[in-house]
Amino acid sequence: MPGQRADVKELKARLDIVSIISRYVTLIKSGSGFKGKCPFHKDDTPSMTVSAEKGLWHCFGCGEGGDVIGFVMQIERLSFLEAVRRLAEEVGMSFDTAEDGARDELRSLMADVANAFSNNLRSDAGEKARDYLLNRGYPESCWMTYGLGYALPGWDNVKRTFSRHGEAILLKLGLLVQGDKGTYDRFRDRTIFPILDLSGRPVGFGGRTFEGEPKYLNSSQTPLFDKGRLVYGISWARERMSQTRTAVLVEGYTDVLSLHQADITNAVGSMGTSLTQGQAELLKRFVDEVVIAYDQDAAGSAASLKGMQILRNIGLGVRVAQLPVGEDPDGFVRNQGSEAMQEILDAALPFHEFFIESLKARHDVTTIRGKEQLLEDAREFYRSVRSSALREEIERQIADLVDLSVESVRRELPRRPHPRDDESPPQVIAEHWGIEEHLLALVLRGEITWDAIELHVLPEDFSEANQPIAQRLAAGLSDLSELMSELDEEGARRASFYALAPLEIDVERTIEDAKRRMGHLPAIEKRLAIIDSEIAASGETEDWKRWEELMKEKADLRVASIRAMDAKRRGMHEQQSEEERSESEAS
Ligand code: CTP
Ligand code: MN
Repeated sequence: MPGQRADVKELKARLDIVSIISRYVTLIKSGSGFKGKCPFHKDDTPSMTVSAEKGLWHCFGCGEGGDVIGFVMQIERLSFLEAVRRLAEEVGMSFDTAEDGARDELRSLMADVANAFSNNLRSDAGEKARDYLLNRGYPESCWMTYGLGYALPGWDNVKRTFSRHGEAILLKLGLLVQGDKGTYDRFRDRTIFPILDLSGRPVGFGGRTFEGEPKYLNSSQTPLFDKGRLVYGISWARERMSQTRTAVLVEGYTDVLSLHQADITNAVGSMGTSLTQGQAELLKRFVDEVVIAYDQDAAGSAASLKGMQILRNIGLGVRVAQLPVGEDPDGFVRNQGSEAMQEILDAALPFHEFFIESLKARHDVTTIRGKEQLLEDAREFYRSVRSSALREEIERQIADLVDLSVESVRRELPRRPHPRDDESPPQVIAEHWGIEEHLLALVLRGEITWDAIELHVLPEDFSEANQPIAQRLAAGLSDLSELMSELDEEGARRASFYALAPLEIDVERTIEDAKRRMGHLPAIEKRLAIIDSEIAASGETEDWKRWEELMKEKADLRVASIRAMDAKRRGMHEQQSEEERSESEAS
């Protein structure tokens, strides 16, 4: 991240979101903000709202949204850093700060560690790994090209070799693991595949065992390595990807290496089957089409289908290669050769054909229930198809599959409701909000502070999608601009929606509902369950200041717990009498 949080905040404060978005979109004044036609989807009505006051934009048609930096990132296809640099230049700010220096230090340490791993591979101790790589068909020439290495057995080789940098930084880089009795090397006796960033600098490692579990061990999330935003092999593949506007997406490290060796140099690895939004966005900067070459059994799994939908949803073409069952690209290309692999890639099925094939495989259409499930399963994909020609084709094929008329299939697969007027869509969507969304909206609009619910609701009580927002709010990050900087794209989309959707929310009722329905007294109970051990620990270390704070907190928690219990009892009482009422009405 360039500069500190405060610098990004300062930058945003100096930028006028309305004039920047106006460079791309005609904005018209509407209420307290502005409206315009969204540049990120085909928008007939002005579905995008921009709020100068909040520094946010959101499209109620396609759901994109965020702050001014996010807008520039998306429309110019820039990384966060690139967007910040460009915008900073406009307002005469510089981002060459201390933090950049710190990152440089982290980078050079990672490079040194990668170097040490590759030296190990060539040392006496590296014989086992050398044999392993040679047996897998990776000759010495490619060890260098891909920076392959070997992590020595033993618990503290990295720890000792790089001790002069201090344990803290090694932990931060995910090279050490914190155990009960101290720190130790994460990578031990494993073949090492360095994971390089766009510029070819090592930011993480994947380590493969010779035997045992887990087969692969990867670097944890670090300031340099964000697995959700990187694909393996991007620095080797980017040139060919740009030339062909196509990427071959595989699961594993070895798949990437074997394809590159076979001269299929636009191959990158998702490092597992669950492709993320961030990885898709990275690919979109280079290509228009992605050919997926996953293991045949994994390709139809829920995780990989989800990844394929992510690719489609950001506007990339998707085709799916059909490898023989039980083969991965690595095995296939080694056994059958480069040309056979190329043929498989050329013959890859367009996504809709693959999807319909996978529907066939997943559902038993000889039963009514199976037919229903198939239609249910097809709905999300069907809705995402924009072309009406393709939609009709899919209707026909599915009708064939389930042996129903095209008309009834069409009824079963409703299209995404198209926003009609500029006024109505947000309301329509907002009607489906639950307590979580109401709560977050209230806090984001500054109508309540997190304190109001702190003792009743924990961030973990929120659904996965809302947790990143809840966590930051719970941690006391109330500044909208700072909060937006910390969220990923999905988080930014949600936060801008919650902050800008024109909706009246009943404050009292939302808080009461949240206490009753979301929290099972969780925050207080969970805190009470662990506070005693913290008190004991601070006593042991004779940290009396901390001890006193904790004792005070415990007393407060007791009071809060009694109150919450009372409130809950009252709540249950209300609910009960409601149920009684509706029962007596029914009879
Ligand atoms: N993976 C992982 N952790 C695991 C298993 C897999 O991170 N425990 C990721 C790795 O990026 C791996 C990819 O998922 O490369 C594909 O996994 P798999 O198909 O099991 O491995 P292969 O690449 O086929 O490994 P190998 O050929 O070395 O057996
Ligand atoms: Mn394999």
